Amino acid sequence: MTPGARARELLHGARVAPSILSADFGRLREQVDEVLAAGARLIHVDVMDGHFVPPITVGPLIVAALADSVHDAGAMIEAHLMIERPERHVGEFVKAGADSITFHAEATPHIAYAANLIRESGAGVGLAINPATPVGALAEVAGAIDVALCMTVNPGWGGQAFIAHSLEKLPRVRAIVGDEVAVEVDGGIDAQTAPSCRAAGASLFVAGSAIFGADDPGEAYRAIARSIDAE
Ligand code: DX5
Ligand code: ZN
Repeated sequence: MTPGARARELLHGARVAPSILSADFGRLREQVDEVLAAGARLIHVDVMDGHFVPPITVGPLIVAALADSVHDAGAMIEAHLMIERPERHVGEFVKAGADSITFHAEATPHIAYAANLIRESGAGVGLAINPATPVGALAEVAGAIDVALCMTVNPGWGGQAFIAHSLEKLPRVRAIVGDEVAVEVDGGIDAQTAPSCRAAGASLFVAGSAIFGADDPGEAYRAIARSIDAE
């Protein structure tokens, strides 16, 4: 299956996306296998460059290390790029096995160009906005994206508290992008916050510490998936 086809299929409907940011990197593949076995079909990889956000995390090498086992399970990798000038790195992430690429509206003056580049590379297209970025940043490219990611914490770290104001913002995101685009939330998502985000219009739920910080990541995944009535 091509990355785009896999992404189009899996980005529809309500799903929980475990973020490996909070995983034990010493046994990363094992941790990812645990959530795949529990039913996860979206694996979220947080890429940080030390510029757009202070921390530096991982890049295409980690995507490539996980790609085969994720794809063999019928799942996909979404690369969440918290990096400046994301358009310069699209090719290497697609080559590494990313099925969709989400970049930040604040990270490039060339949003439409970057979205087209991702689309042409065959991957799904995601556009993310920070908590203080107005939803209008999504308006002109709503027809060119598959996912609108509404950050529900300030990007850069796992384990932060959910920003409650997001619940007022999400209906405005949904109204701007329409029903064909997935609305994703990322940051502070657990079995308590996910249902209210769903009620406010979100369909994809990224969860890092609530899953990989738990004793049993598979069970923690299932608890959040149940809370939003996931596919
Ligand atoms: C933060 C990342 C998130 C992070 C979320 O900038 O984009 O994906 O893993 O972590 P939690 O779920 O712990 O808030
Ligand atoms: Zn993320």
